[in-house]
Amino acid sequence: MVWAAALLLRLASVLAAAAAATPDALPGCQAKCGNVTIPYPFGIGEGCFMEGFDITCNNSVPYLSDGNIDVVEIQLSEGLLVVNQFKAFDCYSEDGKDNSYNKPSINITGLPYKFSDSRNKFMAVGCDTVAYLWDDDSGLQTGCFTLCNNTRNIPLGTCSGIGCCQTPIPKGLTNFEVVIDSTMNHTNCWGFNPCSYGFLADEGWLNFSVSSFSNLSNVTNVPVTLDWAIGDRTCEEASTSSTAFACKDKHSRCLNSTNGPGYRCNCLEGFEGNPYIEDGCRGNASSLEAPLLLTRGAFGLVFLIILCSWLYWIIKKKRLIELKQKFFEKNGGLLLRQQVSSLEGGAPATRMFTMEELEMATGNYKESRILGQGGAGTVYKGILRDQAVVAIKKSKITNDDEIEQFINEVVVLSHINHRNVVKLLGCCLETRVPLLVYEFVPNGTLSHHIHDEDRKASLSLEARLRIAAEIAGALAYLHSAASIPIIHRDVKSSNVLLDDNYTAKISDFGVSRLVPFDLKGLTSLVRGTFGYLDPEYFHTAQFTDKSDVYSFGVILVELLTGEKPVASTRSAECRNLAMHFQSCLKDGRLFQILEDRVVNEGSPELLAAVAKLAKHCLSLMGEERPAMKEVAMELEGLRRFHQHPWIKENEEEGEILLKGAECPTARGMLGEDDSSVHVMQPFDIMR
Ligand SMILES: *[C@@H]1O[C@H](CO)[C@@H](O)[C@H](O)[C@H]1NC(C)=O
Ligand SMILES: *[C@@H]1O[C@H](CO)[C@@H](O)[C@H](O)[C@H]1NC(C)=O
Ligand SMILES: *[C@@H]1O[C@H](CO)[C@@H](O)[C@H](O)[C@H]1NC(C)=O
Ligand SMILES: *[C@@H]1O[C@H](CO)[C@@H](O)[C@H](O)[C@H]1NC(C)=O
Ligand SMILES: *[C@@H]1O[C@H](CO)[C@@H](O)[C@H](O)[C@H]1NC(C)=O
Ligand SMILES: *[C@@H]1O[C@H](CO)[C@@H](O)[C@H](O)[C@H]1NC(C)=O
Ligand SMILES: *[C@@H]1O[C@H](CO)[C@@H](O)[C@H](O)[C@H]1NC(C)=O
Ligand SMILES: *[C@@H]1O[C@H](CO)[C@@H](O)[C@H](O)[C@H]1NC(C)=O
Ligand SMILES: *[C@@H]1O[C@H](CO)[C@@H](O)[C@H](O)[C@H]1NC(C)=O
Ligand SMILES: *[C@@H]1O[C@H](CO)[C@@H](O)[C@H](O)[C@H]1NC(C)=O
Repeated sequence: MVWAAALLLRLASVLAAAAAATPDALPGCQAKCGNVTIPYPFGIGEGCFMEGFDITCNNSVPYLSDGNIDVVEIQLSEGLLVVNQFKAFDCYSEDGKDNSYNKPSINITGLPYKFSDSRNKFMAVGCDTVAYLWDDDSGLQTGCFTLCNNTRNIPLGTCSGIGCCQTPIPKGLTNFEVVIDSTMNHTNCWGFNPCSYGFLADEGWLNFSVSSFSNLSNVTNVPVTLDWAIGDRTCEEASTSSTAFACKDKHSRCLNSTNGPGYRCNCLEGFEGNPYIEDGCRGNASSLEAPLLLTRGAFGLVFLIILCSWLYWIIKKKRLIELKQKFFEKNGGLLLRQQVSSLEGGAPATRMFTMEELEMATGNYKESRILGQGGAGTVYKGILRDQAVVAIKKSKITNDDEIEQFINEVVVLSHINHRNVVKLLGCCLETRVPLLVYEFVPNGTLSHHIHDEDRKASLSLEARLRIAAEIAGALAYLHSAASIPIIHRDVKSSNVLLDDNYTAKISDFGVSRLVPFDLKGLTSLVRGTFGYLDPEYFHTAQFTDKSDVYSFGVILVELLTGEKPVASTRSAECRNLAMHFQSCLKDGRLFQILEDRVVNEGSPELLAAVAKLAKHCLSLMGEERPAMKEVAMELEGLRRFHQHPWIKENEEEGEILLKGAECPTARGMLGEDDSSVHVMQPFDIMR
């Protein structure tokens, strides 16, 4: 991380250095005029230049202020300045008359510039030309002479004496005038060369050829290079004197001017920039290093981006985990853990599913996956990764009380392993609302099979008896055989699920109670479903295992009659099925309210026995109701009775049963252990 940042900084400085390969102006000063950069010691305006290096910028063209000479380029490292200069010419007419001419001069004496003797040459172009440069101040005169009367021998690309001649200039030149003369007034060459030209120019600027004779007439500006230097002293003198030394940067060195007095400065090897400004020389960002750094920098950048996105991902993940943990706690995960661990022989097979797992299983809770919707939540069909089909209940939890219920169901169910109780596979507490995962019971609810219009009478009496026996068996198991007694508290036909073989499975333990946990919580709100609710509960507010027996009695009546537990279609006093059933039974009208199919398939004795059992279960006083275990056994017996028609022969005893006012207590047929079930005889019922 740190080295990546360092690398990035380095890269930035390198890039900056590369961008500023052109040296700096002083802070706050104009660094450019037109497309010409103006580095210090040059400058535009007060305080921006060293004395003598004043530049005027007019219409984006820089001029040497004192010379009215326009500047093309300023070079610090070589101490050069390229300016545009005049050319001198002298043209003749065909008859040898002098047509037009100029005799220009330039004087930069007193400025810190000299015409560069190393870069410039004085040139003369023409075929009858004498041109010379004349410094009036020093008396210096130098020039050359060229003569030709045809173009045949004029060479291409070199100024070698035929048609063009050149001569070096002395050091220290600051002032000159150009004079042009001819020997024959161009009379011998007028046809191809009417003019002579003379100028000082960068060596190499002119690519001389025959066409130059004509082309040069259109050229107005000739580039000339000036050397410049600071002051008129040597490096040693300047650096030791009290006056300001121009080489400001510590990474700079001083050079004596090679063209007259004065000195200039260079950045040290390995540095580039402006030695005339403090910290103007920057580390070398040249050739090899820059691309290397660039690649390194690019790698660093990529690395940094990866690192950042990774960190971002980690943080996001952490937030998600925190959120999950929050939900876990909010959803009672801690309570669950506590309850589970406080239970004897704990370690229930409750599997914790992850959020993602269940999202995937339900296709992100697709609507098409909804199996059912109820007060407690929505149930989805889910397919786990191992292709196991499950039912996933998404609780509709809004308050703590409901969370308790939820946890309760998890705790209760995780302690039950019974073939007629829906199996809880696990739960997920990481989501905002807790999720429960059950075995998938494919065939809908018992209520659906009894009451739905299209299903009416679809169950045989045999199936009904079996289902009743199964429910009773499961409840008996819950009440007495499970490791901790459990009261379901919401037994109803819509909480009984049927699988492919119409095997009953009790579900929805949301309001169930583990008895040991329940001692103080019993007298709370009214729970359960209207129509199934133990009437005694209204008086005592005590929910006991006998309350489940009452609710079961209602289911039994439903199975017999096909009627709904509460139906507004019945008259007011018969609205409640339990009461309706009992009053009909009292009036001897039992067979009027039994479902036709039931009547057709069952013997009167059997039906009377079942009805009697139901009545017994529906006793107003809890104490009078049989225990669930007794009910279960009695139903088992009745099933056998139904399956073995020989019993039908015993008509008389059937009569007795029908007329009997008292419900059998069935107590006598209960052995000390469950194995007594198999010795139960139909006669026992009628004892
Ligand atoms: C500067 O600009 C002028 C035109 O404005 C152009 O002719 C010239 O080539 C430019 N010089 C450089 C060094 O770009
Ligand atoms: C700027 O240049 C124009 C011609 O290009 C000239 O007329 C004018 O006087 C100049 N201004 C200055 C301040 O030198
Ligand atoms: C050139 O300029 C200097 C200083 O401005 C002056 O002394 C000198 O006489 C000038 N020379 C010519 C030939 O004008
Ligand atoms: C060219 O010059 C040479 C010698 O300078 C001379 O002999 C010759 O006659 C000239 N030719 C013409 C056509 O003027
Ligand atoms: C050239 O022209 C000048 C005046 O223009 C004249 O005095 C001179 O005699 C001429 N020379 C020749 C060789 O024609
Ligand atoms: C000079 O011009 C000739 C042709 O006109 C061309 O072949 C040559 O490359 C030029 N040389 C330079 C240095 O521009
Ligand atoms: C001179 O002008 C000719 C056309 O007249 C052109 O082809 C050639 O490139 C020019 N040469 C230079 C150096 O400008
Ligand atoms: C020079 O300029 C003249 C007119 O000013 C033009 O006719 C000629 O073609 C130009 N020649 C070149 C080489 O540009
Ligand atoms: C500058 O010139 C002086 C005198 O010629 C000489 O003593 C000195 O060594 C030179 N310094 C440098 C850095 O060339
Ligand atoms: C600095 O740059 C120059 C060319 O710009 C190069 O020749 C030299 O080797 C470089 N020095 C270092 C230390 O990189």
